[in-house]
Amino acid sequence: MPQHDDFFNTELDEESRIKLGTLSWFLAPWTQKLGSWARQNGQNTVWYVDGFAGPGKNEAGERGSPLIAATRAEQLVRHGNPSEFELALFNVEKIPGNFEKLEVNCKPFIDGGTRIINGKGLFADHVSEIVGLTDGPPVLLFIDPWGFTGFEFDTLVPLFARSAPLDIVMRLHHRAIPRLKPERAAMVSATVGSDHWQANWADLNMDQKVHQTLDTLKDSYTARGRFSSVLFYPVRLHPQAKPAYSLGFASRHIEAFRLWNDKIGGIESEIHERADHPDSGQQAMELTGLSDTRFNTIRDEVTKYFERHRGNTWQNAYDWLIFNSSTFVRETELTNTIDQLVNIGVVRRVGGPGRGTRKGMFSAVKNSV
Ligand SMILES: C[S@@+](CC[C@H](N)C(=O)[O-])C[C@H]1O[C@@H](n2cnc3c(N)ncnc32)[C@H](O)[C@@H]1O
Repeated sequence: MPQHDDFFNTELDEESRIKLGTLSWFLAPWTQKLGSWARQNGQNTVWYVDGFAGPGKNEAGERGSPLIAATRAEQLVRHGNPSEFELALFNVEKIPGNFEKLEVNCKPFIDGGTRIINGKGLFADHVSEIVGLTDGPPVLLFIDPWGFTGFEFDTLVPLFARSAPLDIVMRLHHRAIPRLKPERAAMVSATVGSDHWQANWADLNMDQKVHQTLDTLKDSYTARGRFSSVLFYPVRLHPQAKPAYSLGFASRHIEAFRLWNDKIGGIESEIHERADHPDSGQQAMELTGLSDTRFNTIRDEVTKYFERHRGNTWQNAYDWLIFNSSTFVRETELTNTIDQLVNIGVVRRVGGPGRGTRKGMFSAVKNSV
């Protein structure tokens, strides 16, 4: 892992590529959805807000988050879009050297007609300007500080009052949590929005400490920000490796979670395929299209779901898995797994209007797992 001060001088590590690849992929379909929402509600702008923007590009020329969003915005300017909305950017960067580079790197986009505002200084100091500017249109906010305690939850509260869509992608260096010094407790509470993370702290193991802290953050977002949930994806390159960080996603919209889940599920599926078949990399189970360990995990979760929720639909199973399992089961994976479980008699079809799996209702055959 590069140190903070040389982070932008070196090539991106693979874990950072996952963060930026996910953001890049998600921006296209989700801004399109937000654009339609904006148009239907008398708005013509969707805002991308990058609270911890960096210089936009590293020394190797690889695009960081603000330029990834600028590229998406430029595509809309150049090629137009049927919903006729504008994707505008508000980037904030604290370090003067990074800020200057950010300005230089954004200039070609601005010259090409993309609206980009770069704010110098602390994100917290720009929030009231952002709230005023984005009142009405939807906002997609990216929070990507160094370290775990890089910003305070209360900073976001003025944004929570808005009625337009607000979705937040956040990077959390959760590995630092179990090792945090007691004198930093107040900072952790400020980051996660309450001190509930400290309950029975001394009795918890490392994993429990991480979970309890992330759960506290999730509770703050759901209670005070009216988000439906926060999904945390522990980013690592191998199923057994220690995650480098967690990629969090908060939204008030089930559609956003479905998209996010499908993208993360795709990454997970590839990671498991590589781990199961290191030589071929691509080989997958003939019947399901899934690698062995991925299929086994999804099979167990799906079977348990239909044991507990008998006579239920594909859609309910999918939405339940998004919020209650850490597996990020993709749509196609769920369909293929249910088909396979029906074939081998572990799950049976109990009704539904159509023939397709997505229209059917299913129950687990008792004691199958
Ligand atoms: C991890 S880097 C961001 C990388 C960027 N998101 C990307 O993907 O290209 C964090 C950046 O946030 C800046 N930063 C740190 N604290 C900040 C704050 N309170 N407000 C605004 N920027 C801050 C740092 O100078 C650094 O450039």
